[in-house]
Amino acid sequence: MSEALAMDQAWGLTHMFSAMVGRGAPEAMSMGHQASTLLRGSVLPRHHCRTIAVAGGKGGVGKSTVAVNLGMALSMAGRDVILLDADLGMANVDVLLGLTPSRHIGHLLDGNCTLEDLLLTAAHGLRVIPAGSGARRLAQLDNGEHAAIIRAFDELAQPPQYLLVDTAAGLSDNVSMLAAAADDVVLVVCDEPASLTDAYALTKVLSRDFGVRRFRMVANMTQNEGEARQLHRKLSRVSDRFLDVVIDFAGWIPHDERLRQAIRRQSAVVDVWPSSRSALAFKKLASVVDTWAEPERAGRDRIAFFGGRATPATGC
Ligand SMILES: Nc1ncnc2c1ncn2[C@@H]1O[C@H](COP(=O)(O)OP(=O)(O)OP(=O)(O)O)[C@@H](O)[C@H]1O
Ligand SMILES: [Mg+2]
Repeated sequence: MSEALAMDQAWGLTHMFSAMVGRGAPEAMSMGHQASTLLRGSVLPRHHCRTIAVAGGKGGVGKSTVAVNLGMALSMAGRDVILLDADLGMANVDVLLGLTPSRHIGHLLDGNCTLEDLLLTAAHGLRVIPAGSGARRLAQLDNGEHAAIIRAFDELAQPPQYLLVDTAAGLSDNVSMLAAAADDVVLVVCDEPASLTDAYALTKVLSRDFGVRRFRMVANMTQNEGEARQLHRKLSRVSDRFLDVVIDFAGWIPHDERLRQAIRRQSAVVDVWPSSRSALAFKKLASVVDTWAEPERAGRDRIAFFGGRATPATGC
């Protein structure tokens, strides 16, 4: 089978799978599995490697929720995804996914293990790098240590197709360095004045101090698309006026009680309630992310994930 034909068949199966899951068809799972298997194989171009930081400034807006569910939705579509919990010292991702890590980023920084040793596997093959909880030292890393975390990814034998970085709240060096090291910064914003002002503040720091010019916004916990786009207009109006940046509207996730129930079960909603409103929105967001153009990396002078890989053949 030619590579192009295999790709077409895999995508066809995946999209049919999404539509069937939406209608609750029983055979959807096995077809989805076939699609995943096809896509996980060697048919995908190896050069596809994108790093997405999920940020927002404000606490509790849904950054970890978006990172976990977007990551799993991409995994369910057959993508090879690693999710880095960068809320260092206040780990959330392992709790959200019911994982029990025995090691964390601190062990990597102390030279006691490699990045590969830290990888845990969640449902649908989503791989997770845990942040470590309750370790004060991790919340007070210096910039050299942040750089060491970013550079550790250069050593991965096989870079993933997507690296998602769940960042902490606030504007600390931890957040800004890790977000600036990604190809894309997704701002998670909800309909609260402080969420808009904090997202604006983060945009300002990343553009002024790191030269980040392009952002994507996901509205979370909104009632409908109109409300989500209204939030995007509010943020863009201020950033257009005062900053030299572009903020694209990437999508929206509805407020959904199913999502809260999934969190209580320590599972991703896309996994346990794949046809709920929020799960469908995450799957749509994942398919949008998959259409984003190749990231522009030329001329960047900041430290970046996969920026130091010796093998240009991977394109990362
Ligand atoms: N779309 C949604 N529908 C319903 N509840 C939601 C939604 N998104 C997030 N929540 C609720 O908001 C809570 C906070 O979400 P989350 O932990 O993802 O925020 P965060 O921005 O990562 O917070 P922090 O800054 O503390 O890391 C979740 O525990 C969940 O109860
Ligand atoms: Mg979080």
